[in-house]
Amino acid sequence: MEKAKGNKQAADASGDGILALKNVTKKFGDNVVLDDISLTMEKGKTTVVIGPSGCGKTVLIKHFIVLLRPNMGEIYFRDRRIDNLGEHELDKIRTHFGFLFQGGALFDSLSVAENIVFPIKQHYKITDRSKVDELVTTKLALVGLDGFQSHYPANLSGGQRKRVALARAIALNPEVILYDEPTTGLDPIRADIINELILKLQRGLGVTTVVVTHDMTSVYKIADRIIMLHHGKIIADGDAEHIRNHPDSIVQQFIKGQVSENDLAVLRMGGSIIQAQLQPRDELEE
Ligand SMILES: Nc1ncnc2c1ncn2[C@@H]1O[C@H](COP(=O)(O)OP(=O)(O)O)[C@@H](O)[C@H]1O
Ligand SMILES: [Mg+2]
Repeated sequence: MEKAKGNKQAADASGDGILALKNVTKKFGDNVVLDDISLTMEKGKTTVVIGPSGCGKTVLIKHFIVLLRPNMGEIYFRDRRIDNLGEHELDKIRTHFGFLFQGGALFDSLSVAENIVFPIKQHYKITDRSKVDELVTTKLALVGLDGFQSHYPANLSGGQRKRVALARAIALNPEVILYDEPTTGLDPIRADIINELILKLQRGLGVTTVVVTHDMTSVYKIADRIIMLHHGKIIADGDAEHIRNHPDSIVQQFIKGQVSENDLAVLRMGGSIIQAQLQPRDELEE
């Protein structure tokens, strides 16, 4: 397997590139969240985006489907520039994507089957009911929930709801699936079921996959390529071995879940305040 090394030629969307950002900058007011980012995703590969909370992971993946537009730079899907398209054209482009976003909840008033059919109805006129039933069955079987068609989201566990949301995300046979923290809030076993499904969809159907997560167990299990974002820049880009051996202390601290010296200093200051407050009672009463 060829290693992804750095992002120097990353803006070149030719070859196996299916998705690309070229010199993308995104700001909210003075807050520069993405700072001149160039990145190409290879077809059929799984790229995992890591980085501390608030560093711009969700903002980054929303740009791939132009749910956010860049202040500067360009976005490409299969060599076609898409950041300058209108909403109607973008809707058509988005049918090639499945997305599982944080808080992208199921519709509680719709059954599992109706939830899965929802994106199909948005884009196509349904004429053949039995074909749709068959499609729902296939998608539910893929996530291990065939038989749950007439259940309602309220009666499912958190892990089952995530799997139904995944079945809905793949209803239109997407070429690319974007997952935003798909295992957050799940216990390790249920999280691992989601990891296995991500792998199954990528390996079995050749889906290009982008996953945002800070669950390092997931990262090492599913990633062909790992990208770390920090202060608007990509500070690390490569396979698991490259990231494990990365010389940057910020990368090492993040992947090992260690706090930085700065954070420790703040905690120690907090510690002395706590100690002052926990002085023995008689000392205070003197
Ligand atoms: N719609 C928005 N308006 C203003 N600021 C935003 C918006 N969306 C995200 N941000 C800011 O962008 C930064 C990155 O957010 P986000 O991508 O959600 O981080 P995370 O890495 O945790 O997913 C944060 O500082 C957040 O406050
Ligand atoms: Mg996020």
